[in-house]
Amino acid sequence: MSEPTAAPRLPPYAAQFAAVWSFAEIQEVMRSPDFHQGGFQESLMFLGDTILMVDGKTHLDRKMVFAPLFSKEAMAYYEARLLEPTIAEVMAELGAQHGPDGLARTDLVPLIRVMLHRISARIVGVDGVDTPVRTERFRQLLSALVEAAPVEWSTRNKQEVIAEGLATLNALVAEYLRPSLDRRRGLVRQFREGTLTKEELPRDVLTMICLEGTDAVDQSGGTDGYVWRECSFFLIASTQTTMHSLPHIIVHLADWVARHPEDAARIGETGFLRRAVGESMRLHQTAPARFRVATRDLVLSTGRRVAKGETLALVAPTANLETGVFGADAAEFNPWRETPAGLQPWGLSFGTGVHMCCGRLLVTGQPNRADAEGGGSEGTMIKILKVLYAKGVELDPEDPPRRMSTSFHDTFESVPVILRRL
Ligand code: HEM
Repeated sequence: MSEPTAAPRLPPYAAQFAAVWSFAEIQEVMRSPDFHQGGFQESLMFLGDTILMVDGKTHLDRKMVFAPLFSKEAMAYYEARLLEPTIAEVMAELGAQHGPDGLARTDLVPLIRVMLHRISARIVGVDGVDTPVRTERFRQLLSALVEAAPVEWSTRNKQEVIAEGLATLNALVAEYLRPSLDRRRGLVRQFREGTLTKEELPRDVLTMICLEGTDAVDQSGGTDGYVWRECSFFLIASTQTTMHSLPHIIVHLADWVARHPEDAARIGETGFLRRAVGESMRLHQTAPARFRVATRDLVLSTGRRVAKGETLALVAPTANLETGVFGADAAEFNPWRETPAGLQPWGLSFGTGVHMCCGRLLVTGQPNRADAEGGGSEGTMIKILKVLYAKGVELDPEDPPRRMSTSFHDTFESVPVILRRL
């Protein structure tokens, strides 16, 4: 087990638990049936009984409920019918914003956020994200919710963040989620009466919940209901993660190509971008730590004793830099790094074991088909990167990227860019 010589400072929320730094131990804990989900105790009002937080049979059942959203066929559908048109639509809207010098400038963070909000609305089944006014309102609500729900990592006053999040959830439910749920209830009723086929039903989180029959909500207008929490989780899981990860790739590649001009021509190639995505995701994770609680007294294969009920903070961002796993230069970005046998290029960034990310294929695509046949699935990251590089994206030398200041998330709040070919 390799312990870092100078342990990185953990955010206060994680520092209250025993920290696990090693890649092998984190893998062992995440894959063990003797640990349950932990953490997010301050976010239970947003995430409490969602798929991420439940365990055992309830978790397996929940995975089955949402499995149709993550089948290979669903991925192919999302890619062709959702990702490509949405990215093209957002880029076309941006086309008008040229400055006096004739160059198109934008900020990657809000640009990517708009793309992802439209995509996640479709995955969750949020209707009415259509007119510019309704899209903008949805964007505002979702941005606030995404900031509020993982309150553990906030550097702001947590009570304030929670209060803002609850007010946002209230508005999101009233303006978008409740009407969307009502429509799906009607459709599922028609399906049960035999006037609609299963294929005619929307394929989204809300419909899956209606089909399962766990859609009971407080009719008096309150927001305490499993369905709202699951929708909130999926909205967060499908936006904040990619939003936090994608700008890192552009920042790393700008630096890489400056030092390795021989790779400049590869910047639009699927295979090269796939390597860059995997490598950047290894270096930057979407949470400073994950948590697990032991369900019995036990001893890990490394000899670490864990008491029943003890919470471990799994510091996966540090484990992903372990030189014994990824090589002597593990802390560096190198798209040509060989992935160690039996691992994924992103290491632990999508988790492992039963709670491993369901949306992974949507994000990373399916390598073999895309590379070998040219037509398979590339995933959200590569699709967006290809469009941006085709438009000549470059970091704005006058305005460097700014790190996020309101939370411990490893991400940027602003990445100003020039699009030379827009
Ligand atoms: C860069 C993109 C993403 C990253 C890095 C990421 C990362 C993760 C990680 C690390 C977990 C496991 C958490 C744990 O073990 O405690 C997870 C779970 C999950 N993710 Fe993602 N995710 C991403 C995108 C998505 C997308 C696009 C979706 C949905 C469309 C999604 C849906 C989920 C769901 C439903 C779970 C819970 C799985 C379970 O508990 O069984 N994720 N994600």
